Amino acid sequence: MNEITKEIERLKKEKNAVILAHYYVNDEVQEIADYIGDSYYLAKIAGNTEADIIVFCGVSFMGESAKILNPDKTVLVPDLSADCPMAHMAEADKIEEMRKRYDDLAVVCYINSTAELKCHSDVCVTSSNAVKIVKELPNKNIFFIPDENLGRYVAKQVPEKNIILNDGFCHVHADVTAETVKEMKEKYPDALVLAHPECRQEVLDMAEYIGSTSGIIDYAANSKNKEFIICTESGVGYELRTRNLNKKFYFAGERLLCSNMKLNTLEKVCHVLKTGENEVFVNDDIRRNSLTPLDRMLEIAR
Ligand code: 13P
Ligand code: SF4
Repeated sequence: MNEITKEIERLKKEKNAVILAHYYVNDEVQEIADYIGDSYYLAKIAGNTEADIIVFCGVSFMGESAKILNPDKTVLVPDLSADCPMAHMAEADKIEEMRKRYDDLAVVCYINSTAELKCHSDVCVTSSNAVKIVKELPNKNIFFIPDENLGRYVAKQVPEKNIILNDGFCHVHADVTAETVKEMKEKYPDALVLAHPECRQEVLDMAEYIGSTSGIIDYAANSKNKEFIICTESGVGYELRTRNLNKKFYFAGERLLCSNMKLNTLEKVCHVLKTGENEVFVNDDIRRNSLTPLDRMLEIAR
């Protein structure tokens, strides 16, 4: 164990802290995390932890959700500027306009969104539970924000609903093109294509499996196949390689990197544990109003 890892371990015990990390953060941060997972898993862990301090290694909507679910705990993030651009790609005014247009509208909000957008929503979803939750809603008309690709994917799985799409997107997943996947399929004909639903429709059409980061990792681990073309951020490679020493993973792009996720470093984790800096605060009104859709997600997805 190197010096910084030892120091993090010591501080964690001293302060009764827990480290949560998303699969997209740097390998060395995943290595020291107590829990690594997709957004749904991490939201559940954040809502149930006994620790006094949660250090959330991810992007701001994740730290924010942890605080909303745990107002009495201290939530620290290694870098306050680690944000998800897609989380801002919807507008409260448009949501209210849609509500006027459809009597029975449910606003379904991907967890990759600001707390403020969650306040205007009826239920949150993550990529691993969106289909299940939308299916179970009594509403026929659904406004799905902010991600258009995930919304379109859900619409295909739940054709009985009228799903209205919003034009948000993730620039990392938008960089995966059908041409690249096709070229890779030609190069590795035995490889299965595993894709995150934030990818473009034409990429999802080529995938053998579509799912969240955890879904992709579990699929690869349980498959008898030995080669996979991965259409999501390259951070999942750490868990894929750790769990599958005899399998090969090819990423559908040279630089499938979420630069915001990569702002989480060991040095910053150590620094916030030591100093208590970078605490996440959510104002009371926003917390109360955004808790309802988050709780509803946890309830329906259970
Ligand atoms: P997951 O919930 O699948 O981990 O996705 C989070 C995310 O940010 C995808 O870009
Ligand atoms: Fe946001 Fe895309 Fe990064 Fe996920 S990969 S956190 S959706 S920018």
